Parts: sequence; C-alpha cells; structure tokens
Amino acid sequence: MSSSDTSAVPSRILVTSALPYANNNIHLGHLFEAVQTDVFVRYHRLRGRTVRYVCADDTHGTPIELAALRQKISPEQLVEQTQKEHMRDYAGFNISFDIFYTTNSEENRKYAELIYQKLKENDLIIEKEISQYYCEHDKRFLPDRFIIGKCPRCKAEKQYGDVCESCGATYDPTEMGEPKCIICNNAPVLKQSRHLYVQLKKCESFLREYINGTDALQEDIRNFVTSWIDDGLREWCISRDGPYFGFRIPGTENKFFYVWLDAPIGYISSTDRYCKDHGERVEDYWGSGSDTQIVHFIGKDIVYFHALFWPVMLKNANFNLPSKIFVHGFLNIEGEKMSKSRGTFILAKDYLEKVNHPQAPEFLRFYFASKQMPNTGDADLNKSELLTKTATTLANNIGNLHHRTFVFCDRYFEKKIPDAYWDESVATIVEEAGREIASYYEKCELKSVVEKIHALGSLGNKYYQDSAPWEQMKTDPQKAAVVMVTCVNLIKALAVFLKPITPEITGSIERQLGLILKWEDHTFSLKNKPLGVTDKIVKPFEEADLDQVFAAASQSKNQQENSGTSGLIDINHFKTVDLKIAVVKSAEKVEKSSKLLKLQVELGKETRQIIAGIAAHYKPEDIIGKQVVVVANLKPATLFGLTSEGMLLAAQNSGGELVLLHPAKPVTSGVKVG
Ligand code: MSP
Ligand code: ZN
Repeated sequence: MSSSDTSAVPSRILVTSALPYANNNIHLGHLFEAVQTDVFVRYHRLRGRTVRYVCADDTHGTPIELAALRQKISPEQLVEQTQKEHMRDYAGFNISFDIFYTTNSEENRKYAELIYQKLKENDLIIEKEISQYYCEHDKRFLPDRFIIGKCPRCKAEKQYGDVCESCGATYDPTEMGEPKCIICNNAPVLKQSRHLYVQLKKCESFLREYINGTDALQEDIRNFVTSWIDDGLREWCISRDGPYFGFRIPGTENKFFYVWLDAPIGYISSTDRYCKDHGERVEDYWGSGSDTQIVHFIGKDIVYFHALFWPVMLKNANFNLPSKIFVHGFLNIEGEKMSKSRGTFILAKDYLEKVNHPQAPEFLRFYFASKQMPNTGDADLNKSELLTKTATTLANNIGNLHHRTFVFCDRYFEKKIPDAYWDESVATIVEEAGREIASYYEKCELKSVVEKIHALGSLGNKYYQDSAPWEQMKTDPQKAAVVMVTCVNLIKALAVFLKPITPEITGSIERQLGLILKWEDHTFSLKNKPLGVTDKIVKPFEEADLDQVFAAASQSKNQQENSGTSGLIDINHFKTVDLKIAVVKSAEKVEKSSKLLKLQVELGKETRQIIAGIAAHYKPEDIIGKQVVVVANLKPATLFGLTSEGMLLAAQNSGGELVLLHPAKPVTSGVKVG
C-alpha cells in the first residue's frame, strides 16, 4: 500500500449490521443490508486495514416469547436454534462476520446493567405510574401483542393491541373493543404499574451537537432526526413487566429491560466476546478515547433507536460514539413490499435451495451492490433485471473479456501471459479508475463501483476488438502479445475491484493467475507468467433457474390483482374522491401553530382556503406558485378558528418528513386527477 493511502485511515474499524430478530428467518431484505455491510468490510480488509465485523441475534422481547409459546419450546431453545439457522443462511451468501453472537448472553447482561447504572447516576431515569391491562387468570401484565380485540377505527375483529392489520390504524390497547388475553381468552382488567423512563430531553444539547457537529448521519437523515428533536424529545420507557424474556432490572422485583435497551448493547457485548476469544481488548474498540471508528449499517425503520437512544446510552456510560451510521432503504420484490401474508417474501434459505445455479448467491450480491447508494430510497428486486444485469456485466462483459483473452493465450502463447510490455495508456486509465472506485467504496456508493467496473470491462472489450489480435498474429505477433498482456492485467484489476462484491468470481481468477489479490494489485504488473486452467468464470442464469423462487411472488401479485376482497376497492369507489390540480396563490403561517400553513389555492376559476399541516416541512415561499393535488370534495373543517376547504396530497417519508405531490409537468389548474 502506498503511504499516501494510509494517512487518513483509522487504526481500527468496527462494523455492524443491525441484529436480526430471533423469531424470524433471514430474508432477502436482511441480506440487502448484510451484503452492503459485508462489501464495505471486505473492501477495507482488501486494503489491509484492521476491520472487525460484528453481528448477533436480537433475542429478547414479546414476539420471541410468543413464537416460543406457539412452538411449545422455551425462548432459550428458540433463540439457540434460530442462531444456528441465521448463521447458516448468512454463510450461504458469504457474509463474513468475525462474530455472530446473541443478545441473550452474560456479557450483554453485564453491559446492559452497567449502562443503566450510568444513566441512573446521571439522573436521567425517572419512575412513572401508568395503567395497563392485566390478566388475572395468567397473573401477568399483557403487552400489546398479548391482547386481541376490535379495532377502534374499523371494528375489525381479532386485531392486536397496537395496530390493526385490516385498516392500518395504530392505537393504545385501552381503546380497543372487547379486549381478550391471547393466552386464556379472558377479558383483562386495568391495573396500575410503575415504569422506568429515560429523560431524553436532558440530553438535547448533546444530541444536537452529535448529530449536527459530526458527519455520522447522511444529510437527509440528519435533517429528519433534527426535526424529531425540534418536535420535542419524549421520555423513553425502558421497562417491561415480567414475565418477559430479557434481563431483570437490578433493584426491581419483576421489571425487565425493554428489548430495545439491550439490543444495541449487543454490539458491545459481541465485540467483547470476540475480543476474549482472540486476545484483544474491548476498550480498544468501545473505550471513549479509542481511535476505532464504529460504523453501523441499519434500515430506515430503526433510525430513532440508533441516532437518538443509542448515542445517549453510549455517551452517558463513557463509550465510543459511532462515527458513521449508514441508513438504507427497503428492498421490495417485483414492485411489492415484502409481506408474509402475500407470499412476496423470499427467505434466504429458499433462494439458496431453490435457485438452481452454483453462482446464485454471488449473483445476488452483485445485483444488490449494483443498486446500493448511500441513500434511503427503496430498491426493487425483480427477476428480469436480476437476469439481465448479471448477464450483461458479469457474463457478457467481464466474463467475455476474460474468456477470449485466456483462450487466446492458451492457443497462441502456450498457456502463458506472453513476454511483452503492456499498453501504458490502458494502465493509466485503470490506475485512475482505481482511485475513483476506492472513493466510491469508502462512501458506500456501490452502484457507482459497479458502473465503473462495467465501463472498464467495456473498454477492455473494445480495445481487444479494435486491436484484432487474431489479425496481428498473422503479421506482427509481438503486437498481439502486447494486447494480451494488457488484457490480462486489466482482468486482474477488475478482479481486484470486484473482490469485495463477488469474492468467488475473483477467487477463480486468483487461482488462474496463481495470486491472492490485494487492493494495490490493481496496478499493472504481470507478464511472462504461466496461466492456470482457462475455465469460464461466469455462467449466466437461465430464466428457469429463478422460476421457483419467484413463482410465489408473482402468483401472489396476480391473486391480489384479481381478488375483490380484503380492503380492495373498485373503480367507482375511487371515483367518489374528487382530486384536482390546484396552484398555490398565497401561503402564510398560522399564528400560534408550528404545524399549520394557511393557503389560498386556485382550482380553475375558483379560489379556496386550505389549512395544511405542512409548516414544519415547507416555508410559505417554498410553495407559492407551485402546483399541488387537492382533495376537492372533502367536508370543510375548522382548524385554529380557520375554515379549511380541502386537503393537499403528500407522502410521508419514514422519519416523518412530509413531501407534497406535484404534477410532473405543468397542468391546467382545476383539472381532475384520476
Ligand atoms: N432487531 C432489530 C434491530 C436491532 S439493532 C440493535 C430489527 N430487526 S429486524 O430483523 O426487523 O431487521 C434487521 C435489519 O434488517 C434492519 O436494519 C431492517 O431495517 C432490515 N430490514 C428488514 N427488512 C428489510 C427489507 N425489506 N429491506 C431492507 N432492509 C430490511 O429491526
Ligand atoms: Zn389470560
């Protein structure tokens, strides 16, 4: 490694993926995250840096207790069994953890107690009394998921105590009709219980400084975390009544730490376990003075826990804070959310078992990488794109360059890289590309990495084609030798660049070249050297290979499209909503409200007043003159004494940011939408 490369590099990097829950199987959404993390880890290893990749199962809480109950085994048995399955599934995709541990460990108990103790010492814990459902038959307080009843909104029966699966409403269990205990089916009673809360508000200035004073968060995430703080930090309840599968809170009779308290602490306890097993010191990673960079990879649904609660825990216990929290969006399948009930849920083990192709895991890694950027947009996995992307780049581009080069060397140069000097102009291009690709890897812009690799492959094929070595062989074989040396070195560089993403494809090139490749090996260096076997490095998917695993997803899609049940509406129902394009003529803040803007909008010839809850997300001047979509036949409402005659359509980002909908091109105002 050249010295300039190492100057800004920390002595150690600790990398984590979010800890999967122990009651579910690993699915392709989990792998979307694990691949991103693993590629980052492998890149840094390739550069010779000290990296540890730590993960574990998240084992505590009600859903795990419930799953064990259903399977008639103990929670301990359940989590032990799941951990094995999870490790096997991840291994199938070459996810290279240094440790995959569990939060149900003595180390985790120790750190949970320690951090709780520090929060107490720093006066951050208070007690409050609340009333909660209690089952007199089973002698226990009932968490939301242990209660079923009627949804207070749509009256659907047999809904859980927190959210209605039929209409999507969220509520408190006390608002439900006819609540029942799911264990014994008796009606619970309300009973008082004391609970422990962390006063996050007291940490507001620390959090603002951490979030805005570092580049731990991507810009858009930083903005909406800041808006959460602006909205006011509420107390966080960290206790649950027993019986609860988790750690008992010291100094209490029957209270347990809420799973989200000890879950992230699993990052520390797993590192601790790793260190004990490898003669290292956990303080070198998590001690507040250490120069280890902690890098978390998480989905956008768990930002609140990682960007607010977690830094507060770490700071107060005097631990090292995360340097970077990479937040990714969700993986959908064939344009649909992954959903168990719809069958659009591809499990890791089904992909491994049912896709009939030896390079299937490697291809999925490549495909995921080709869609990953450091942003929170969702990504779609679809069969035809998976087929074409892997065929285009891996088989037809890089595989082709590799094959024609190796076959040529076999045939005309006695299975050797000939003795000639490479084309310096190609070597220079590759060296420059190396710097660019490195910077993409550092930022986790894997899509750009893949694009750049593809471009280099195309350049190689064009160079080969334009040089026409089969002609040169007849007239000036030394020229053909130069082309071969250049192409072999280019292939070596591509193998290096691909190594974090497709370690097995690189592995087969390494065997052919008789080398173990490091990052610096992307520079041209090989000539006059025997070559190993000439096998093709990539055999593309055939469509049939993927049929089985995608069948369920597409079947369920058809079913949904054809069925008239379960929350679907017909077109006439939809037509009762009058959506229109309007232009915002004026906008001003509503006095005494931080949320509302008073708008005058023009719908064709008509002007209306709309009071919109968007003040936290839009300044008046941002929306004046903009076209919006309005629900025009909504009953008028009064807000802060002002009449509102309609509603603007907006989408809510996870994290709560509101985004107004605008037509993609200007549309005559007053026109109907639909
Ligand atoms: N146990 C918690 C995390 C605790 S971390 C201290 C949890 N587990 S999870 O199994 O539900 O999710 C684990 C990770 O997978 C999360 O980062 C989550 O965002 C991610 N994903 C789960 N489904 C996903 C998709 N469909 N797509 C992409 N990532 C998804 O949350
Ligand atoms: Zn009961």
